Amino acid sequence: MAGVTTPELVAAVSEAGALGSLGAGYLSGERLSAEMARIRQRSEQPFMVNLFVPDPEPQFSAAELAAALEALQPTLDDLGLPRPALNPPYAADFGEQLRALLAQPPAAVSFTFGLPPAAVVQQLQARGTQVWITVTSREEAQQATQLGPDALVAQGSAAGGHRGGWQADALAPTLELTRELLELGLPVMAAGGLMTPADVRRALDAGAAAAQCGTAFLLAHEAGTSAPYRAALERARWGGEAAKTVLTRGPSGRLARGLANRLAAVDTVLPYPAQNALTQPLRAEATRQHRPEWLSLWAGKRVAELTGEQSAAALVAWLTSEL
Ligand SMILES: Cc1cc2nc3c(=O)[nH]c(=O)nc-3n(C[C@H](O)[C@H](O)[C@H](O)COP(=O)(O)O)c2cc1C
Repeated sequence: MAGVTTPELVAAVSEAGALGSLGAGYLSGERLSAEMARIRQRSEQPFMVNLFVPDPEPQFSAAELAAALEALQPTLDDLGLPRPALNPPYAADFGEQLRALLAQPPAAVSFTFGLPPAAVVQQLQARGTQVWITVTSREEAQQATQLGPDALVAQGSAAGGHRGGWQADALAPTLELTRELLELGLPVMAAGGLMTPADVRRALDAGAAAAQCGTAFLLAHEAGTSAPYRAALERARWGGEAAKTVLTRGPSGRLARGLANRLAAVDTVLPYPAQNALTQPLRAEATRQHRPEWLSLWAGKRVAELTGEQSAAALVAWLTSEL
C-alpha cells in the first residue's frame, strides 16, 4: 500500500509470520534502498516490494490542464492554496527503483498497473526473487503468464486502492476471479475484501496460495495512515454513509476505490500520473489541516468490518487464527 506501508509495518507483518509488503510505487530508488535497509534492521524474515509499472509520459493539452485545475478550484479555495505548478516527471523513476531492488533483492517483487519488461522479470528471478503480477481479469492473466512470473495476484472488485490492471478489468468477485485464474496453472494470491479470519480461510480453501489483505491493516499502529485518514476510517467502522466506497479517478487520474468524499467526486481529471502530481500538494495541505474531504481515502468495500487500532502482530495472529 504505497503511502501507507512503513518499514516498521512491513517488518512487523513478516516477523509475525505473514509476508510484509512495502508499497514502493511512489519512492525514489534512494528512498527505496533506505526503506529496505530499515526493514532488514528490524527483521531477517522475507518481505516483498511492490512497484507500479509506468505508462508512457501522459500527453494533454493546455485546455485539459485548465479544466482539471478548474475542477480543483473549490479544493484550492477551501484550503487557501494558490494554483499548483505541474512539471514532469510526474512519477518516480522506474529504472532507479529496479536498480535498488537488484542491488539488494527482496524475497518477492509484485508489479501492478501493467506488465514489467521480460528482462526485468528474468533479472529478478536470477537473483532468487519471486515475481508476482497483479491482474484483474483472465485476459490480463493470460498476457502476464507469457512472462513466466512465479505467481499472479487476483485483484477482485472489492479491493481498496487503485485497480491494478491495464486492459480489461473484470471487476469480479475476488474468489470467483481466483478460481478462474487457477486454471492457468500458476499460484494465485487472492486480493480484495479479505477482512476476517473466515475470509482468509475461505480464500485458501478456494485454492489461493495466499490471501493479500490491505484495508485490514490501515489502522495498524505501525501503518503510515495519517491522522485525518484514520479519523475517516474510524467513522467508517460505524457503517452507513461513512463506510460507502466509490471507484474514482479524482485524486490520481487512475481508477481507485476509496471512501466517498469531495475529492472522489472530482471527475474532470488529467491522465495518471499527471493528476496524481497535480493533487499532491493539495492532499499534503489537507493532511496538515486535518481535512479528510480532500484526501485520497483508499479503502476496500468491506471497510466497515475494519477492527480498531492494534499492532500488526495482533492482526496477523487474528487473521490467520482459522488456518
Ligand atoms: C491504501 C491502499 C493503498 C494501496 N496501494 C497499493 C499499491 O501501492 N500497490 C498495489 O499493488 N496495490 C495497492 N493497493 C491494493 C492492494 O494491493 C489490494 O489489492 C487491496 O488492498 C486488497 O483489498 P482490501 O483492501 O479489501 O484488502 C492498495 C490498497 C489500499 C487500501
